[in-house]
Amino acid sequence: MKVKFELSHFPEKSYEEVLEEVEARKLVNPEEMPFSKLPCEEELLKIKREVKRLKEKSDSLVVVGMGGSSRGAKALHEAVGKRDEKLKFLDNVDPNLISKTFNELNWERSSFAFISKSGRTLETVTVMNLVLDQLKKRGLSPQGRTVFIGDPGNSFQQLARELGSAFIPIPKEVGGRFSVFTAVGLVPAIFAGYSVEKLLEGAFDLLETPLPALYLAAAKYLHYQAGRKISVVMPYSSYMAEFTEWYVQLWAESLGKEGKGQTPLKAVGTASQHAILQLFMDGPDDKFFQLFFVKHYAEDPKLPQECYILPFLAGKKVSEVMEAEFKGTVHALKSRNRHMVIFEMEELSEYQMGYLFMGYMVAVVVMGKLLGVNPYGQPAVEIGKKVAIEELRRESNDEGGMQ
Ligand code: PA5
Repeated sequence: MKVKFELSHFPEKSYEEVLEEVEARKLVNPEEMPFSKLPCEEELLKIKREVKRLKEKSDSLVVVGMGGSSRGAKALHEAVGKRDEKLKFLDNVDPNLISKTFNELNWERSSFAFISKSGRTLETVTVMNLVLDQLKKRGLSPQGRTVFIGDPGNSFQQLARELGSAFIPIPKEVGGRFSVFTAVGLVPAIFAGYSVEKLLEGAFDLLETPLPALYLAAAKYLHYQAGRKISVVMPYSSYMAEFTEWYVQLWAESLGKEGKGQTPLKAVGTASQHAILQLFMDGPDDKFFQLFFVKHYAEDPKLPQECYILPFLAGKKVSEVMEAEFKGTVHALKSRNRHMVIFEMEELSEYQMGYLFMGYMVAVVVMGKLLGVNPYGQPAVEIGKKVAIEELRRESNDEGGMQ
């Protein structure tokens, strides 16, 4: 395992006892984790072939998708960090965001991935229509420039056929927020030049030895039972902020059901130390902390030999300042008897992200079982989606528009 895992504050119990207490081992059944079936070589080759086609016509890919249909790729892109604008994400119907992105695009050299499992998500379909309209107005064919990704047989597949665009299916049994290892995450990753082999290797290694995911689920469950209904995720890296978004969706949508659930809360070290740490330390003991520390950085500037105001900074690397701050937070939290797990990552790489994605997906399913909720689906969210669609339909009828 290349991610060091340290679980604090079960002083009176061994890991084994913790697992035994919740019988977590018995809860891992690959049959019930369809996302654990990683794509085979042939599937990967197919995806790579489609991406190659897109790249012939474009230098950047705009990912249009909501929630699970874009968050994984976004988190990977930010963390692994070839931040060269190869990927853009349109994951909101904020008119300003759409206009700004459209204005800045080199349309002749851009391609588009429309991603929706259902093929009916309001935001995705709205942006997709705007993009297709722009392509038309600019005399650019969607062929070779657009790829549709969704459930086999959904409206996206039909539309792709009509437009002569590519369509890549998502395995039906893999839910949106669990789909990062399908074409949903892999198309953007391959386009941006990341090693999907390394990403999948990380996921595979976790599946080979899933103990850390079990400990995580068991610990979070026991703390939940002890009244810690909030689970904080706090990486010490600005480039894991998107990962915290991915985590929030996974933990909230999977477990927030039937009056149960553990509220995910995101923070980023060191910035959040100057905002929320006071509450973490001195507020109610209702939180379980997940801290992430990155050991090596691609770039690590050194301070000058003579420093103003704080002379002890002289000659230090920025990572040393980061490490001191991280240790300070761990120490401070421990001194207040706060409960935590620490992930130590060698660096932010495809491997590490694959490991984390898979670890958390396994953990949330086990946690769902412990809580007695079905981690798949999000029935309550669907109510809001329906109302929004009805609202637009009604307005459209009032004005005599199309249904
Ligand atoms: O996890 C989920 O299933 C959801 O968050 C979906 O990813 C999100 O609602 C987008 O749905 P779709 O992929 O159908 O457009």
